Amino acid sequence: MTSYVAAIDQGTTSTRCMIFSHAGEVVAVDQMEHEQIFPKAGWVEHDPEEIWRNTREVAAGALAKADLSASDVVAVGITNQRETAVVWDRSTGKPVYNAIVWQDTRTDRICAELEALGGGQDRYKDKTGLPLATYFSGPKIRWILDNVEGARERAEAGELLFGNMDTWVLWNMTGGPQGGVHVTDPTNASRTLLMDLSTLEWDESIAADMKVPLSMLPTIKSSSEEYGRVRERGALAGVPIAGILGDQQAATFGQACLSPGEAKNTYGTGNFVLLNTGTEKVMSQNGLLTTVCYKIGSNDPVYALEGSIAVTGSLVQWLRDNLGMIASAPEIEGMAAAVDDNGGCYFVPAFSGLFAPYWRSDARGAIVGLTRYVNKGHLARAVLEATAFQSREVIDAMNADSGVPLKSLKVDGGMVVNELLMQFQADILGVPVIRPVVAETTALGAAYAAGLAVGFWAGEDDIRNNWAKDKEWTPSMDDAAREKTFGLWKKAVTRTFDWVE
Ligand code: G3P
Repeated sequence: MTSYVAAIDQGTTSTRCMIFSHAGEVVAVDQMEHEQIFPKAGWVEHDPEEIWRNTREVAAGALAKADLSASDVVAVGITNQRETAVVWDRSTGKPVYNAIVWQDTRTDRICAELEALGGGQDRYKDKTGLPLATYFSGPKIRWILDNVEGARERAEAGELLFGNMDTWVLWNMTGGPQGGVHVTDPTNASRTLLMDLSTLEWDESIAADMKVPLSMLPTIKSSSEEYGRVRERGALAGVPIAGILGDQQAATFGQACLSPGEAKNTYGTGNFVLLNTGTEKVMSQNGLLTTVCYKIGSNDPVYALEGSIAVTGSLVQWLRDNLGMIASAPEIEGMAAAVDDNGGCYFVPAFSGLFAPYWRSDARGAIVGLTRYVNKGHLARAVLEATAFQSREVIDAMNADSGVPLKSLKVDGGMVVNELLMQFQADILGVPVIRPVVAETTALGAAYAAGLAVGFWAGEDDIRNNWAKDKEWTPSMDDAAREKTFGLWKKAVTRTFDWVE
């Protein structure tokens, strides 16, 4: 009997279930988008109950499309949008508030208060690898406990649980109020600002600073082991859940970046470049994050340097949804291809402030260089170029931190079908850009973590052997042109600073 592994990919804009074969090939996929809730400027929320409903539906949908049943699936892996915070009642399973999404900037004041306790933005950097920024979960939990009536008392009485989306989905899949497993993995925990990167345990003193009761926090297990079985009477009933990786770490794993020095760039809602640094924690001097890359069973944890960019693919969605300039995201390529260059126009999408390498919550988006010459083709090109320029900035920071310049870049995610963007990315980096056959590396990475735990795959060599190149783009821009346009981009970035008090 042929067996398969399933992966649940709970992302920022949608939830997917994918079924993989032993060769790492996609057998079936089902996907549902969920509502993006914007209650105020800078606020972004999701409805956790909608996400849980969608999770069950896509699991059933993917199995139906593959014409498989639960008994054909040996393990399930979970991967997820990281940092997004849910707080719920352990006895009813009801969230006390919507999930506060990673892009949300409402915790700006909380972060400033924590900085003022001493040590500034890097107060927790030695322990957690992270700067104090609105991006991470800890301050979001604090906001919920401070602002939802009765939440703090209930949390202190042990009635409330916190989880990122991995934990929310796992707890519900394993029974919810009837014995749900309250667990996370170190890749997700390393994004809360509450975990010590060396011990992989919650740090009591940081939790006390943030006024987050430890009783709310999930148990941190490895990224690859059996946490429990699917309890509800659904499509995957009885299947062991055996892998958890935050989506960017999952993509790194799925791209077979398993040795120090190997890196990938995922083009999703945002872009996230991760460089495997092995068992060594490299502390960035250039605005990158130090994070857990994966921890397979009882093996030592593997760390990564990360360049997180908040807005890339979501800028294309903004053009579609907020401006109506395109009817569907892929249309942007044709519009951009109608012109030869950006016409002098630069679009810095600092919608959530700026993440790496700047970490400026005071920044807001700007379009600069406008003249009457600029048309929608130029604007479309500026939108695509913004992704490539931002990627170049974090890769420059990575090269400076590691001292070893990247020789090529593996890419994955939704936008890598865009040929114009991939060529421009190679041009602006000056190194080849390589796309694998299976560009769905996020779900694949979670499937690998789960499949390794149950012995479906024997070890990392299976992952390396399954990886295959689809296409490579080589740089074709001369050095002078590259540095000129990148210089103008850097200047445009400075125009977004000091916008919010
Ligand atoms: O850190 C945020 C990241 O995990 C979100 O990824 O692909 O869901 O936009 P994505």
